[in-house]
Amino acid sequence: MPFIVFEGLDGSGKSSLMERLEELLKRQGIDYVRTREPGGTLLGEELRHFLVRTQGEAPTPRAELLLYEAIRAQHVDRLIRPALQNGRWVICDRYVASSIAFQAAGRQISEEWVRTLNDFATDGVFPDLVVLLDLSVAAAKRRREKRNRERGESDDRIESEAEQFHHRVRESFLEQARSADAARWLVLDAEAEINQLQMLLEQELKRRDWIK
Ligand code: TYD
Repeated sequence: MPFIVFEGLDGSGKSSLMERLEELLKRQGIDYVRTREPGGTLLGEELRHFLVRTQGEAPTPRAELLLYEAIRAQHVDRLIRPALQNGRWVICDRYVASSIAFQAAGRQISEEWVRTLNDFATDGVFPDLVVLLDLSVAAAKRRREKRNRERGESDDRIESEAEQFHHRVRESFLEQARSADAARWLVLDAEAEINQLQMLLEQELKRRDWIK
Protein backbone atom coordinates (compact mmCIF):
# COMPACT_ATOMS: atom_id res chain seq x y z
CA MET A 1 0.00 0.00 0.00
CA PRO A 2 1.25 3.53 -0.69
CA PHE A 3 2.80 5.40 2.20
CA ILE A 4 2.76 9.12 1.36
CA VAL A 5 4.49 11.81 3.42
CA PHE A 6 4.03 15.58 3.24
CA GLU A 7 6.98 17.83 4.08
CA GLY A 8 7.73 21.54 4.06
CA LEU A 9 8.27 24.57 6.27
CA ASP A 10 5.62 25.31 8.89
CA GLY A 11 3.00 27.32 7.03
CA SER A 12 3.65 25.69 3.65
CA GLY A 13 0.06 24.41 3.37
CA LYS A 14 0.54 20.71 4.06
CA SER A 15 -2.78 20.40 5.88
CA SER A 16 -4.85 21.89 3.05
CA LEU A 17 -3.34 19.59 0.44
CA MET A 18 -3.72 16.59 2.75
CA GLU A 19 -7.41 17.45 3.09
CA ARG A 20 -7.75 17.49 -0.71
CA LEU A 21 -6.02 14.11 -0.89
CA GLU A 22 -8.40 12.72 1.74
CA GLU A 23 -11.40 13.86 -0.32
CA LEU A 24 -9.93 12.21 -3.39
CA LEU A 25 -9.27 8.91 -1.59
CA LYS A 26 -12.80 8.91 -0.15
CA ARG A 27 -14.27 9.48 -3.64
CA GLN A 28 -12.26 6.53 -4.91
CA GLY A 29 -13.33 4.32 -2.00
CA ILE A 30 -9.72 3.87 -0.83
CA ASP A 31 -9.14 2.92 2.80
CA TYR A 32 -6.50 5.14 4.39
CA VAL A 33 -5.24 6.59 7.68
CA ARG A 34 -4.12 10.17 8.07
CA THR A 35 -1.51 10.74 10.72
CA ARG A 36 1.29 13.10 11.73
CA GLU A 37 4.70 13.46 13.35
CA PRO A 38 5.48 14.27 16.01
CA GLY A 39 2.37 12.35 17.14
CA GLY A 40 0.23 9.67 15.57
CA THR A 41 -0.12 7.47 18.67
CA LEU A 42 -1.39 8.26 22.16
CA LEU A 43 2.17 8.26 23.53
CA GLY A 44 3.42 10.26 20.55
CA GLU A 45 0.75 12.92 20.98
CA GLU A 46 1.65 13.19 24.69
CA LEU A 47 5.35 13.56 23.92
CA ARG A 48 4.60 16.08 21.14
CA HIS A 49 3.60 18.55 23.84
CA PHE A 50 7.15 18.59 25.25
CA LEU A 51 8.60 19.34 21.81
CA VAL A 52 6.42 22.23 20.71
CA ARG A 53 5.69 24.03 24.01
CA THR A 54 7.41 27.34 24.63
CA GLN A 55 7.25 27.08 28.46
CA GLY A 56 9.26 24.74 30.70
CA GLU A 57 12.63 23.11 30.15
CA ALA A 58 13.54 22.88 26.47
CA PRO A 59 15.22 19.68 25.24
CA THR A 60 18.83 20.08 24.10
CA PRO A 61 19.39 19.30 20.38
CA ARG A 62 20.45 15.67 21.02
CA ALA A 63 17.56 15.07 23.42
CA GLU A 64 15.19 16.70 20.93
CA LEU A 65 16.36 14.38 18.15
CA LEU A 66 15.90 11.32 20.37
CA LEU A 67 12.38 12.42 21.29
CA TYR A 68 11.39 12.74 17.63
CA GLU A 69 12.91 9.32 16.96
CA ALA A 70 11.20 7.70 19.97
CA ILE A 71 7.86 9.06 18.77
CA ARG A 72 8.65 7.73 15.28
CA ALA A 73 9.51 4.21 16.50
CA GLN A 74 6.21 4.03 18.40
CA HIS A 75 4.39 5.41 15.33
CA VAL A 76 5.90 2.81 12.99
CA ASP A 77 5.27 -0.12 15.35
CA ARG A 78 1.80 0.83 16.51
CA LEU A 79 0.24 2.57 13.52
CA ILE A 80 2.12 2.85 10.23
CA ARG A 81 3.30 -0.73 9.68
CA PRO A 82 0.05 -2.33 10.91
CA ALA A 83 -2.04 -0.03 8.69
CA LEU A 84 0.03 -0.82 5.58
CA GLN A 85 -0.09 -4.54 6.37
CA ASN A 86 -3.86 -4.32 6.68
CA GLY A 87 -4.15 -2.87 3.19
CA ARG A 88 -4.64 0.76 4.13
CA TRP A 89 -2.85 3.73 2.61
CA VAL A 90 -0.97 5.91 5.10
CA ILE A 91 -0.78 9.65 4.57
CA CYS A 92 1.49 11.33 7.07
CA ASP A 93 2.32 14.94 7.93
CA ARG A 94 6.16 14.85 8.28
CA TYR A 95 8.53 11.88 8.71
CA VAL A 96 12.29 11.20 8.46
CA ALA A 97 13.06 14.07 6.06
CA SER A 98 11.97 16.50 8.79
CA SER A 99 14.62 15.13 11.16
CA ILE A 100 17.29 15.61 8.47
CA ALA A 101 16.01 19.13 7.76
CA PHE A 102 15.33 20.38 11.30
CA GLN A 103 17.81 18.42 13.45
CA ALA A 104 20.74 17.96 11.03
CA ALA A 105 20.52 21.14 8.91
CA GLY A 106 18.63 23.31 11.41
CA ARG A 107 20.26 22.31 14.71
CA GLN A 108 23.49 21.25 13.00
CA ILE A 109 23.71 17.74 14.42
CA SER A 110 25.79 15.40 12.23
CA GLU A 111 23.62 14.13 9.37
CA GLU A 112 25.17 10.69 9.76
CA TRP A 113 23.78 10.42 13.28
CA VAL A 114 20.36 11.57 12.19
CA ARG A 115 20.29 9.06 9.32
CA THR A 116 21.40 6.24 11.64
CA LEU A 117 18.69 7.08 14.17
CA ASN A 118 16.10 7.48 11.39
CA ASP A 119 16.98 3.96 10.20
CA PHE A 120 16.70 2.59 13.72
CA ALA A 121 13.32 4.24 14.31
CA THR A 122 11.74 3.37 10.96
CA ASP A 123 12.94 -0.23 10.98
CA GLY A 124 12.71 -0.41 7.18
CA VAL A 125 9.38 1.39 6.74
CA PHE A 126 10.07 4.05 4.07
CA PRO A 127 7.63 6.34 2.30
CA ASP A 128 6.82 5.54 -1.33
CA LEU A 129 6.25 9.20 -2.09
CA VAL A 130 7.35 12.40 -0.34
CA VAL A 131 5.44 15.52 -1.36
CA LEU A 132 7.50 18.62 -0.65
CA LEU A 133 5.57 21.89 -0.51
CA ASP A 134 8.38 24.30 -1.19
CA LEU A 135 7.93 27.88 -0.03
CA SER A 136 10.25 30.80 0.71
CA VAL A 137 11.02 31.45 4.37
CA ALA A 138 9.39 34.90 4.16
CA ALA A 139 6.16 33.57 2.63
CA ALA A 140 5.97 30.75 5.19
CA LYS A 141 6.37 33.29 7.98
CA ARG A 142 3.58 35.49 6.57
CA ARG A 143 1.24 32.50 6.36
CA ARG A 144 2.05 31.40 9.92
CA GLU A 145 1.41 34.91 11.21
CA LYS A 146 -1.97 34.98 9.47
CA ARG A 147 -2.89 31.54 10.84
CA ASN A 148 -1.75 32.50 14.35
CA ARG A 149 -3.84 35.71 14.24
CA GLU A 150 -6.93 33.77 13.12
CA ARG A 151 -6.48 31.16 15.87
CA GLY A 152 -5.28 33.53 18.59
CA GLU A 153 -2.07 31.45 18.86
CA SER A 154 1.62 32.26 18.65
CA ASP A 155 4.63 30.52 17.08
CA ASP A 156 5.66 27.26 18.81
CA ARG A 157 9.21 26.56 20.02
CA ILE A 158 10.54 25.50 16.63
CA GLU A 159 8.63 28.10 14.63
CA SER A 160 10.21 30.83 16.76
CA GLU A 161 13.75 29.87 15.67
CA ALA A 162 15.87 32.50 13.88
CA GLU A 163 15.39 33.11 10.16
CA GLN A 164 18.72 31.43 9.31
CA PHE A 165 17.46 28.22 10.90
CA HIS A 166 14.43 28.14 8.57
CA HIS A 167 16.65 28.89 5.55
CA ARG A 168 18.80 25.85 6.37
CA VAL A 169 15.66 23.72 6.80
CA ARG A 170 14.27 24.76 3.41
CA GLU A 171 17.59 24.15 1.64
CA SER A 172 17.87 20.72 3.24
CA PHE A 173 14.43 19.68 1.98
CA LEU A 174 15.34 20.81 -1.55
CA GLU A 175 18.67 19.02 -1.38
CA GLN A 176 17.02 15.80 -0.18
CA ALA A 177 14.56 16.01 -3.06
CA ARG A 178 17.49 16.19 -5.50
CA SER A 179 19.36 13.28 -3.88
CA ALA A 180 19.76 9.67 -5.01
CA ASP A 181 16.24 9.14 -3.76
CA ALA A 182 14.80 11.81 -6.10
CA ALA A 183 12.34 9.37 -7.75
CA ARG A 184 10.38 9.22 -4.50
CA TRP A 185 9.95 13.00 -4.28
CA LEU A 186 7.37 15.33 -5.78
CA VAL A 187 8.35 18.98 -5.33
CA LEU A 188 5.47 21.45 -5.60
CA ASP A 189 5.55 25.24 -5.52
CA ALA A 190 3.49 26.01 -2.43
CA GLU A 191 2.64 29.48 -3.83
CA ALA A 192 0.43 27.78 -6.42
CA GLU A 193 -3.34 27.71 -6.06
CA ILE A 194 -4.69 24.77 -4.01
CA ASN A 195 -6.70 23.44 -7.02
CA GLN A 196 -3.52 23.42 -9.08
CA LEU A 197 -1.60 21.60 -6.33
CA GLN A 198 -4.37 19.04 -6.05
CA MET A 199 -4.27 18.46 -9.82
CA LEU A 200 -0.50 17.94 -9.81
CA LEU A 201 -0.72 15.48 -6.93
CA GLU A 202 -3.56 13.60 -8.62
CA GLN A 203 -1.50 13.36 -11.82
CA GLU A 204 1.40 11.91 -9.87
CA LEU A 205 -0.79 9.27 -8.21
CA LYS A 206 -2.22 8.29 -11.62
CA ARG A 207 1.24 8.14 -13.15
CA ARG A 208 2.18 5.64 -10.44
CA ASP A 209 -1.01 3.64 -11.11
CA TRP A 210 -2.16 4.09 -7.53
CA ILE A 211 -5.52 5.61 -8.46
CA LYS A 212 -7.82 5.46 -11.50
P1 TYD B 1 4.05 20.22 12.65
O1 TYD B 1 3.02 19.28 13.16
O2 TYD B 1 4.27 20.23 11.18
O3 TYD B 1 3.73 21.70 13.13
P2 TYD B 1 2.32 22.47 13.17
O4 TYD B 1 1.66 22.06 14.43
O5 TYD B 1 2.74 23.90 13.17
O6 TYD B 1 1.57 22.06 11.95
O7 TYD B 1 5.45 19.88 13.35
C1 TYD B 1 5.81 20.32 14.61
C2 TYD B 1 7.25 20.75 14.61
O8 TYD B 1 8.16 19.67 14.75
C3 TYD B 1 7.63 21.46 13.31
O9 TYD B 1 8.13 22.74 13.64
C4 TYD B 1 8.75 20.63 12.74
C5 TYD B 1 9.29 19.85 13.90
N1 TYD B 1 9.89 18.54 13.58
C6 TYD B 1 11.26 18.36 13.75
O10 TYD B 1 11.99 19.29 14.12
N2 TYD B 1 11.81 17.13 13.50
C7 TYD B 1 11.06 16.06 13.11
O11 TYD B 1 11.59 14.94 12.89
C8 TYD B 1 9.64 16.26 12.94
C9 TYD B 1 8.76 15.13 12.52
C10 TYD B 1 9.10 17.53 13.18
